[in-house]
Amino acid sequence: MTKQTVNEAELEAVEQVSAEAAAAEESEAAGRKLDAQKAGARVGLTSDEIIINGGRPLKGRIEVRGAKNLATKAMVAALLGKTPSVLRNVPNISDVRVVAGLLALHGVLITRGEQAGEWRLDPSNVEVAHQADIDAHAGSSRIPILFCGPLLHRLGEAFIPDLGGCRIGDRPIDFHLDALRNFGAVIEKLPSGISLTAPNGLKGANIELPYPSVGATEQVLLTAVLAEGQTELRNAAIEPEIVDLICILQKMGAIISMEPNRVIFIEGVPELRGYDHRAIFDRNEAASWAAAALATKGDVFVGGVEQEEMMTFLNVFRKVGGDFDVHDDGIRFWHPGGALKPVTIETDVHPGFMTDWQQPLVVALTQAEGQSTIHETVYENRFGFTDALVKMGADIVVYKEGLHDEARRVKRREFEQAAVITGPTPLHGADIEVPDLRGGFSHLIAALTAEGQSKVTNLGIISRGYENFIEKLRLLGADFVYES
Ligand code: EPU
Repeated sequence: MTKQTVNEAELEAVEQVSAEAAAAEESEAAGRKLDAQKAGARVGLTSDEIIINGGRPLKGRIEVRGAKNLATKAMVAALLGKTPSVLRNVPNISDVRVVAGLLALHGVLITRGEQAGEWRLDPSNVEVAHQADIDAHAGSSRIPILFCGPLLHRLGEAFIPDLGGCRIGDRPIDFHLDALRNFGAVIEKLPSGISLTAPNGLKGANIELPYPSVGATEQVLLTAVLAEGQTELRNAAIEPEIVDLICILQKMGAIISMEPNRVIFIEGVPELRGYDHRAIFDRNEAASWAAAALATKGDVFVGGVEQEEMMTFLNVFRKVGGDFDVHDDGIRFWHPGGALKPVTIETDVHPGFMTDWQQPLVVALTQAEGQSTIHETVYENRFGFTDALVKMGADIVVYKEGLHDEARRVKRREFEQAAVITGPTPLHGADIEVPDLRGGFSHLIAALTAEGQSKVTNLGIISRGYENFIEKLRLLGADFVYES
């Protein structure tokens, strides 16, 4: 590890997280310059905009790093240890930087290792942060809600700012707060966030989640490991990122067992140590590039990806007409020629088809012959991104209350929507604005698939979860202009 430290006053330095990221940024900048030159001159784009000349298959190899939805939580888990933790394979994305900033505000010393994506998090001097400083992070991410348990254990109090994250539905935090109350937390809602205390300490609890929420399951895990006594969590989420978080906590000294039927038992222990862990790969990023390969009739090797966590996606990819080869170091995805086939999908919790996979896939489905249906059962507002696809020539009808008369495998929730996509429809270039993280990536895919030129704006949102995506587009031979 190098000695370069990061503290509150040096938040900006957190942004330069790894030597590799810096190198990648440099080569990205070189690529951008080249692209701008190819286009003739600078065309006056802001760093939040890209011009894409579509209709060219994506071909080549890119690497996927650690999962956003694990790395950020693993960083919070470091707060629970008495000794420093080392997290490897950390992606250089803005959500990670937001969490690093919040940890630094609470006194966690973050240093980066010589290896790309290696972070050391030292929680020896965890302290109460100023509310005003925390407030500066309001609305930037949903991860701060997971600071509750660890901060209550370490400091006896916590202040959590208003949350951010993608606007894809109400995204309430009632399951989190109910679980925390079960452990003995006292919660006060303030105009700018929530304040928590634990006057009698935190004690193990019996909790049944109304829905297998990823975040609420993580909340329970991060709180129960140091709570006094046993916790039984029923109807827990069992996503691979949750299993990876459990592995991290076990390395730290926790006693956690995963039982059948979504039950997790946690025996509280008096203290935990730091961990050394390589974050599981990002399934969402992998599925996004796979969908991009399919939609653009391309051939993309996605390095760092493993089959097991992708099984459900791979089945759908094959049903739609894509092909793939599993290798030791990744998976190659390609369009084998011929017509793509329509599918019916219900998004679901793991091991079902992830809600985060539907947006990139929808673009490929606009090119399938016939009618595809996607029932979105996890979030109540996750088809906003299709407006832009319709503008580009797609035939997509969104049923805001779902298709009530259709047979369904996943039990209906009181809200849901369905999108019916009829293809194939050629897409044409358009000016489009990124609405949210996954929807934004699907906009990029649409622009790459479309004939003609598209201008995609509000790109910053995509960097929340996709590392060096501009560089990756360049590596895959996309034709674009991007100026920083
Ligand atoms: N829910 C509640 N109350 C709660 C918590 C959740 O009603 O207290 C509901 C939500 O409104 C939603 C459902 O439960 O309808 C599922 O939400 P969940 O808690 O599982 O989602 P999350 O933890 O907020 C994580 C990922 C999401 C991913 C979902 C589902 C992170 C930071 N986010 O969100 O990722 O879609 O799980 O797998 O881990 C993304 O990466 O773009 C993204 C949105």
